[in-house]
Amino acid sequence: MIAELEYWKSILTGVIAPKVPVLAYLPQRRQLPDRILPVATAWKGIESVLGDLIEKFDIGTRSCLEFGVEHGYSTAALSCFFDAVTGVDIFVGDMHTRDPRDLFASTSDRLACFKNIRLVRSDYREWTATDQNVYDLIHIDIVHTYVDTFACGIWSVQHAKCVLFHDTESFPAVKRAPYPFRRAWRPSPCARCPWPASWPVLSCCPASSATTRG
Ligand SMILES: C[S@@+](CC[C@H](N)C(=O)[O-])C[C@H]1O[C@@H](n2cnc3c(N)ncnc32)[C@H](O)[C@@H]1O
Repeated sequence: MIAELEYWKSILTGVIAPKVPVLAYLPQRRQLPDRILPVATAWKGIESVLGDLIEKFDIGTRSCLEFGVEHGYSTAALSCFFDAVTGVDIFVGDMHTRDPRDLFASTSDRLACFKNIRLVRSDYREWTATDQNVYDLIHIDIVHTYVDTFACGIWSVQHAKCVLFHDTESFPAVKRAPYPFRRAWRPSPCARCPWPASWPVLSCCPASSATTRG
């Protein structure tokens, strides 16, 4: 039973709101990347569709931001495809993780050999309050509550071409969180905006003052 009022409000609103068309993504090919770490993770299997996903949605491979690093499995996998990966995590776990230790030092050591990875100890709220960059991909795998996934997600869709939400099947709150802003998506009407008109974006010119895309 999900004890979050916002989740249930979203469910109720969804009953009368227009339905959101959801297109299934079926990978055409799977290939394991080179950087597969022998650590605990719920990400096994996803790493092998990253190449297909990047190609299919033509999202570019310059920059990736990840919220939720833990032992670094997904970060290492993502770093096989992007020039630069920034991993943001509080590194002390949350109500849904199994390892309560402070993982910053061990994960930093484990990933130190991958020079295109930068780890930052930060709460996603602090990070999103100041970062104005736009990324090719953002991956969200933090505490699996509706409120946190929604807050992190709504910032992310305004700062990336593509946003991946992890654990949507095992956590209904995570699956539900993107619904409200998916309803708000519309093609970009602005000539200055870096997005092709076919990309659904929430608002025009996200972070227009500091976009990293050239
Ligand atoms: C499920 S783990 C990430 C697993 C990782 N993506 C993987 O599969 O390799 C979730 C991580 O989110 C972090 N986390 C939880 N709440 C957070 C918050 N408010 N801001 C940043 N990180 C958070 C936890 O410390 C934990 O390491």
